[in-house]
Amino acid sequence: VEHVEAPLSYVEHYYEADLAERDIPESRFYLSWLKNVKGKSILSIGCGPNLYDDCQFFGNIPKELIGVDINRANIEFLKKSKNPNLEEARKFMAENNVKTEALVGDVTKPNKDYINRFDSIYGLGVFCAFRQDKLKETFMLLNSYLKPGGVLVDVDWTECQLSQEERQRKSEYLFYNGDQEISKMGRLMEESNFLITKRQVYDVPNKEAYGWGKIYGYVAKKK
Ligand SMILES: C[S@@+](CC[C@H](N)C(=O)[O-])C[C@H]1O[C@@H](n2cnc3c(N)ncnc32)[C@H](O)[C@@H]1O
Repeated sequence: VEHVEAPLSYVEHYYEADLAERDIPESRFYLSWLKNVKGKSILSIGCGPNLYDDCQFFGNIPKELIGVDINRANIEFLKKSKNPNLEEARKFMAENNVKTEALVGDVTKPNKDYINRFDSIYGLGVFCAFRQDKLKETFMLLNSYLKPGGVLVDVDWTECQLSQEERQRKSEYLFYNGDQEISKMGRLMEESNFLITKRQVYDVPNKEAYGWGKIYGYVAKKK
């Protein structure tokens, strides 16, 4: 599938839909994984429009938060949107002196400046957007970006129940690229110099209404 740039309206709607669901059990499950994101320097891969919102769920307030996303509209939204909730989140970052950067980029491509730099790296719904044959290479790359003992947090959705049309759109925008096998993700991390310290699967009770059958999380520590 060729990457089609997600339009700003798609990103706006995505952000608003997430916000409206923030208190449902599924959201509470996935957001609880962000407690494992800690340390001074944090990288959010495929950050989407939620980069600044995520910060309130981290294990601590960092000194530096970098978000990278392949869709320009996500980065534009983070910088320019007047959504009151996002304005609040930006204010929170400023008041707490968190140095932020939101960048357009492809995180499956190497970046020398990131080697040994981060305490935590996380992807929320991001590894499921990558091509299967890129996963191992990307895990290795992310491993090299962590300081020794740093952690990678992966939270992902699988058993997609969305309509064919919605799936197709998500895959063109690189928001989702087919179901990954949960245990395979762990295996690939272990093969990439990570030690898995936490793993949990949430079996969604109302799969069809929610749009996904399972949400899972991994915390993997750089060896
Ligand atoms: C399902 S969305 C998740 C967004 C955000 N993390 C969240 O929690 O809402 C997947 C994101 O990954 C981004 N993405 C996909 N492939 C990418 C790549 N190779 N490099 C950087 N970002 C990528 C997409 O643009 C999209 O914003």
